[in-house]
Amino acid sequence: MAHLLVTGGAGFIGSNFVHHVLEHTDHHVTVLDKLTYAGNRASLDGLAEDRFTFVQGDICDAGLVDELFSAADAVVHYAAESHNDNSLHDPRPFLDTNIIGTYTLLEAARRHGTRLHHISTDEVYGDLELDDPARFTEDTPYNPSSPYSSTKAGSDLLVRAWVRSFGVRATISNCSNNYGPFQHVEKFIPRQITNVIRGIRPKLYGTGENVRDWIHADDHSSAVLTILERGEIGQTYLIGADGEKDNKTVVELILSLMGQPADAYDHVTDRAGHDLRYAIDSTRLRTELGWQPRYRDFEAGLSATIDWYRDNESWWAPTKDGVEAFYTSKGQ
Ligand code: NAD
Ligand code: TYD
Repeated sequence: MAHLLVTGGAGFIGSNFVHHVLEHTDHHVTVLDKLTYAGNRASLDGLAEDRFTFVQGDICDAGLVDELFSAADAVVHYAAESHNDNSLHDPRPFLDTNIIGTYTLLEAARRHGTRLHHISTDEVYGDLELDDPARFTEDTPYNPSSPYSSTKAGSDLLVRAWVRSFGVRATISNCSNNYGPFQHVEKFIPRQITNVIRGIRPKLYGTGENVRDWIHADDHSSAVLTILERGEIGQTYLIGADGEKDNKTVVELILSLMGQPADAYDHVTDRAGHDLRYAIDSTRLRTELGWQPRYRDFEAGLSATIDWYRDNESWWAPTKDGVEAFYTSKGQ
């Protein structure tokens, strides 16, 4: 039994991880989360009170971070500003949380000798051509495109430097696009599902040929737990589940799974600097640590996700109108 500190545990992937850990291990979990617009305390409702503690606070608060590190056996760092579109309109919070926040955690890990796992994204590698047979590997050079991905790249490099210069016991994972329950409606898949529920036509940026490599959030969680338990200190692991799909295909699938004509969507203004394609080669994680994804049928996982949004309207309804008003003001 260990005591895990999970930053950003009230966000999409962090909350899925907390549920996964409480279900599959006997660890105690403390969540540190600022509850920004993206955090939702309700995503952690119903967890066993004797094994779960919630602390509202900022990862940039060095005093609070120090206190929480002193009680933790290991830290899993999910907290971030995570949405590319927001980073194009207001980059500053991305620098604060993704760079200074990660620095604050690294300094605490250094002081306390705490094991740290840093969660990152495949977007640090930039993008691939549609017809390129290559996929990202741990050796792909960093080439981020947006304020979001560049601050995540910066945070990864800080972790590597703290491992090498100060002996911090850290690992890094870079995962592809996640889908599943508890994802904010500003993101692609939940936005389109909740649009259809509300009678709004889904919105596809540009031509819709952009490709993302989808993985279910629960598979991301099992991969992170595997790295935490068996990963080599200082190592980077790419996490992916061979889920490449172009955006147009995903929108058409959502529409048909929800009983609508597959062409009942709109093309809207493209994202500035829109990355064309992401694709992950997760051979290292699979061969060295023996991890395998469980959700191999995207259509079944998407269908279950649609059901979750249908069944949990009270979770997403308070944020929906504001998100749509923001996108509409940007022509998206
Ligand atoms: P999210 O936006 O849903 O959640 C982020 C959480 O962090 C929120 O609960 C928010 O309140 C919290 N937070 C933000 N700033 C904070 C601060 N200063 N102090 C404390 N808490 C703070 O994000 P997500 O999609 O769950 O992503 C989680 C992590 O996974 C991020 O590091 C992201 O880069 C990474 N990631 C995401 C994806 C994806 O598909 N969403 C893919 C790969 C990696
Ligand atoms: P998103 O969920 O924002 O994730 P990321 O930018 O990290 O890949 O977007 C996924 C893809 O969907 C991306 O190519 C942008 C596109 N997209 C749309 O076509 N329409 C939308 O309404 C949104 C939010 C995204």
